[in-house]
Amino acid sequence: MAETETQPQQQNGLQENRVFLPPPAFAAQANVSGMDAYKALCEEAERDYEGFWARLARENLDWHKPFTSVLDESNAPFYKWFQDGQLNASYNCLDRHINNGNGDKTALIFEADDGAVTRVTYRELHERVCKFANGLKSRGIKKGDRVVIYMSMSVEGVAAMQACARIGATHSVVFGGFSAKSLQERINDAGAVAVITADEQMRGGKPLPLKAIVDEALGLGGCDSVRDVIVYRRTGGNIAFYEGRDIWLHDLVDNQPGQCEPEWVDAEHPLFILYTSGSTGTPKGVQHATGGFLLWAAQTMKWTFDIKPQDLFWCTADIGWVTGHTYIAYGPLAVGATQIVFEGVPTYPNAGRFWQTIDKHKVSIFYTAPTAIRSLIKAANADENVHPKNYDLSSLRLLGSVGEPINPEAWMWYYRNIGREKCPIVDTFWQTETGGHMITPLPGATPLVPGSCTLPLPGIMAAIVDEAGQDVPNGNGGILVVKRPWPSMLRTIWGNPERFKTAYFPDELGGRYYLAGDGAIRNKDTGYFTITGRIDDVLNVSGHRMGTMEIESALVAHEMVAEAAVVGKPDDTTGEAICAFVVLKRARPTGEEAKKLAAELRTWVGKEIGPIAKPKEIRFGDNLPKTRSGKIMRRLLRVLAKGEQITQDISTLENPAILEQLRETS
Ligand code: PRX
Repeated sequence: MAETETQPQQQNGLQENRVFLPPPAFAAQANVSGMDAYKALCEEAERDYEGFWARLARENLDWHKPFTSVLDESNAPFYKWFQDGQLNASYNCLDRHINNGNGDKTALIFEADDGAVTRVTYRELHERVCKFANGLKSRGIKKGDRVVIYMSMSVEGVAAMQACARIGATHSVVFGGFSAKSLQERINDAGAVAVITADEQMRGGKPLPLKAIVDEALGLGGCDSVRDVIVYRRTGGNIAFYEGRDIWLHDLVDNQPGQCEPEWVDAEHPLFILYTSGSTGTPKGVQHATGGFLLWAAQTMKWTFDIKPQDLFWCTADIGWVTGHTYIAYGPLAVGATQIVFEGVPTYPNAGRFWQTIDKHKVSIFYTAPTAIRSLIKAANADENVHPKNYDLSSLRLLGSVGEPINPEAWMWYYRNIGREKCPIVDTFWQTETGGHMITPLPGATPLVPGSCTLPLPGIMAAIVDEAGQDVPNGNGGILVVKRPWPSMLRTIWGNPERFKTAYFPDELGGRYYLAGDGAIRNKDTGYFTITGRIDDVLNVSGHRMGTMEIESALVAHEMVAEAAVVGKPDDTTGEAICAFVVLKRARPTGEEAKKLAAELRTWVGKEIGPIAKPKEIRFGDNLPKTRSGKIMRRLLRVLAKGEQITQDISTLENPAILEQLRETS
């Protein structure tokens, strides 16, 4: 790639002037080749919005019953896409490739924590999914039922999702790092009839419990809907077993037939619910529809990842997050690709694991999070032996980034050390709610600028508006919105349509614009988007979304805590770090006592929500900075967390003296 201009590095990319053009050889073979091809697609969508999406839906998916209606806006914002069409997601991900003569192609290469490799062809995966689906049916699980999946990365995890899709059950995967309480809340909210789990998971050479956490979650009550707990034997570790409720996966599926007629569902049938954090209240069950979601999963594999039959794709996400849904469980399978499913962690047995795995399997497309890149930069700087230069990474042709802003410095390192200056980087902006990529470069077309996710995909009407919903000119910051519905958008919040409306289609913006919850700015000349961060009380820690309210609720649930306020502060590795300001019911602790109590509260939050929610820092005060009407002034806490001087107006502050106290770290 040609670097056209060199400028000093800018932390947030807003003043970034370096531009990297697609290598001509890449552009020549790309699925979308050159900016003219990109613009032609955008123009097609502008000209005939429904016709554009109908064409893509027909090209990407096999329909059991073709649709005649494309977009139904009659009950906006509860949009419906392809609603009289019928299909099955699992059929589209498995059967059609076998029917096309690709049954012997490898679908999954499972790389276990200890480096053991298992290959599964499309034919084999189809058989496993069918047996699994028949097993679920044998327990009375049927179309429309919700099934919670609490598993780590495994072939069985992917098969479990596909098996649910095959019978029309709606899955809700809960990340294996969430606590029993978080799991219980999600099971309860979804009204799940079954939980699929494993005895244990392997992470970094250590077994960690899964089934024991399911037992604990179900023991907390409120989960009476659950009839079955299906357990995959991963480690053979000791677990409790409750006769009548628990069943081993192998006992359930081994004698089942290897064929299972797919349940044809309406395009709008809920394929899955995935819980994510919002700024208020409990996590939201984001509901996705079968047809629109699968269409976008497949199309973005072709556009953003330029997927080709000979590629080896590796997305390092976990199936517990949306990235693992769209770009592991569905997208790669929908397009018949071969992919790596990775169980381990990037630092085991050492911090060269990612690069070694790319080398070992000859990965051609690699998709990971900025947090992972930043921590591996640190590791490579500290230890020559795990530096990527020790590995043959020449199989790579495309790199991707997801989940949080990538700072230009990390982008450049990724570009030089992993892509060896020949691989485009697609910085993909999207969300659990959007189902797939929204704003991202197309690798054979878009000139890249480090730190910018560049331009919206064709058909995605992203824009920046002010608080009244008016367009802001390029160069001015504002609120990121999407002006028209698109097929893979969330359909509602499970069981809470009102919250769906107020959270995503607020009246202030006219009730028709989708509010992403992020701030953004467009470059004056290029129109490129740079995401400037969340505009609500949602934190992004290591690419994981956390609501400050959730963490505050967990803290105040501790018997010692009177009040808590949580803010984010910038962190070199994790992007943002959680900083909690806590008032105890007793006198403010200092010194060793403060350290001890902070450790206790961190452990507590880990138990309440999961280790990802543990505050990095806890500061104790006699009070919190509040206005005279009692409102906590979070903007001041953000400044204190950063360790900066307060320059803002504090005239409305009731208790200015508290600021000095909260400046101190414990
Ligand atoms: O703030 C944005 C950030 O992650 C949020 C979505 O988080 P989640 O639903 O967990 O999905 C993560 C995986 C898609 C967004 O609101 N975000 C995601 N991708 C980017 C990003 N911020 C900047 N650049 C990105 N590429």
